[in-house]
Amino acid sequence: MDIELKNLKVKVEDKEILQNFNLKIHQGEIHAIMGPNGVGKSTLSKVIMGYPDYKVVSGDIIVDGKSILNLPINERSKLGIFLVYQNPIAIEGVTMREVIKSSVDSKSEEKKSLYEFVKEIVGNAKELEMDSKNLHRDFNVGFSGGERKKNEILWALMLKPKFIILDELDSGLDVDSLKIVSSVLNKYLEENKETSVLIITHYTRILDYIKPGFVHMVKNGEIIKSGDFSLAKLIEKFGYNQTFDINEVETCE
Ligand SMILES: Nc1ncnc2c1ncn2[C@@H]1O[C@H](COP(=O)(O)OP(=O)(O)O)[C@@H](O)[C@H]1O
Ligand SMILES: [Mg+2]
Repeated sequence: MDIELKNLKVKVEDKEILQNFNLKIHQGEIHAIMGPNGVGKSTLSKVIMGYPDYKVVSGDIIVDGKSILNLPINERSKLGIFLVYQNPIAIEGVTMREVIKSSVDSKSEEKKSLYEFVKEIVGNAKELEMDSKNLHRDFNVGFSGGERKKNEILWALMLKPKFIILDELDSGLDVDSLKIVSSVLNKYLEENKETSVLIITHYTRILDYIKPGFVHMVKNGEIIKSGDFSLAKLIEKFGYNQTFDINEVETCE
């Protein structure tokens, strides 16, 4: 999926969070947005997903050549956008399997048989090293932060998104789980080459597992530097507050 953020200005409760935000992600590319806490990274993910509290004051979000600004969340999701939340929510009274099945059904032309669905979800759960008994528990209720992240990834695998936003994927995940989740995601990306990814993170750790071709540093609500993977390494070395020469980006290992 091609995604273009064009001069986005976003307000939350009358506070301007993003401004002059420009980013182009072509089909199949992996981009990382990096920035310190509170800079507007989660805001960006929610505005792409279409949360009404996050108001686009000006600018546009273009997906495969068309503006999606007027589309509600479920329509954006139908196009193939999937957001793995920084803090996934729990839903009482509905099991994981029910949530994922109804979401898959609402997005596909023909309904999968229950048999096919169960076979696929159990297979995916196994790859994620999840206990398939969890599928019968209420969605995310009583799960740890890391388990919730795995549940979200399972949901993503079942929906087969064309654009995945990972908001602080590694928060809550222990190192073994992070390895499992990233190898499953990398396999998905290998098999679905048209899928684009936006990794949102304040740490570089995740980027060693899912490698972005493009890295952008955000400050005061806008992208102030863009580079390749070496920019992430510079940020790791110098932090966000140090100013470093962008020309170093290409030469730093
Ligand atoms: N729903 C909201 N209501 C009020 N303020 C918000 C809301 N969401 C985000 N903000 C504010 O927007 C700023 C950016 O937040 P956020 O996008 O979560 O940053 P990050 O993900 O980069 O840490 C913060 O000052 C935060 O308090
Ligand atoms: Mg955040």
